[in-house]
Amino acid sequence: MDKGPHLIKKIPDMMNIVKVHKQNQIIGFVPTMGFLHKGHISLIQSARKDNDIVVVSIFVNPKQFAPNEDIDRYPRNIKRDIEICREQGVDYIFYPCAEEMYPNGFQTSVSLSELTKGLCGKSRPTHFSGVTTVLTKLFNIIQPDNVYFGQKDAQQAVIVKQMIKDLNYPITMHILPIIREDNGIAMSSRNKYLSAGQMKNAEVLNKSLKLAETLIKQGERNCNRLKKIIYHKIENENRNSNANIKIDYIEIVNFDNLQPIENVRTNTLIAIAVFIGQTRLIDNIVIK
Ligand code: PAJ
Repeated sequence: MDKGPHLIKKIPDMMNIVKVHKQNQIIGFVPTMGFLHKGHISLIQSARKDNDIVVVSIFVNPKQFAPNEDIDRYPRNIKRDIEICREQGVDYIFYPCAEEMYPNGFQTSVSLSELTKGLCGKSRPTHFSGVTTVLTKLFNIIQPDNVYFGQKDAQQAVIVKQMIKDLNYPITMHILPIIREDNGIAMSSRNKYLSAGQMKNAEVLNKSLKLAETLIKQGERNCNRLKKIIYHKIENENRNSNANIKIDYIEIVNFDNLQPIENVRTNTLIAIAVFIGQTRLIDNIVIK
């Protein structure tokens, strides 16, 4: 067979290919919405190391965008994505269109009742059922042995882990660290929306988390105090730079179940979401 990546657009084609490989090969899967960057690449590289066959999906999933979130603006560059996948030795890119995934009459949705309520779920109430619905379809189509997700979307990772458990998928989930720009900003396709000035403002997300981490290392445990310190750090940046920064949330929770906690302990997730102008950015750290 010639070298990949093979671009597969139809579900039956993808399922036929999977059927053949499943007989004696291990399949690793990296779901994405494309416009690949180093964060995605780190997932692909892990998948490449662990598996015989690597499948990357590229699908800007309409079900996880609310009507006010303008899916048409989401950045896309399939040519470049194919090139990146080629460099990384990906075997198949699954690249369906919206009608292929959600034909007329489609009516099923998969949703989790608790883990989706807090953090990003508060301001994006329909988002995660869009994510879990599309991932259910993708897991059924690709039947991976291993799947790779980024800690960048920490709530998503916890939700998917729970879904895999609840629905008895024979899948091992891997959650990989956040890849950052040199200035500390978490890599994200959405960074493309930011002007140079806003990119500078966005540094405050990671800086405020780092500050909290330092204070924790020095012995601070109180979550309310830590949240206030992060809040003031971000508000200061807002005042000093006249940036149009709006905090969506600052939360400190147990990384296993996303429940708020009063005092930092092992496996604590500090997660923030901030609007810079119109662009909503998220970042987090896990205190091990
Ligand atoms: P997308 O935003 O394209 O992200 C695909 C995967 O890359 C996710 O697991 C995400 O956490 C990971 N990722 C993004 N930025 C990262 C970074 N800076 N460091 C490490 N990993 C990073 O997340 C989605 O797509 C969608 O919701 C999807 C799961 C594909 C379902 O539609």
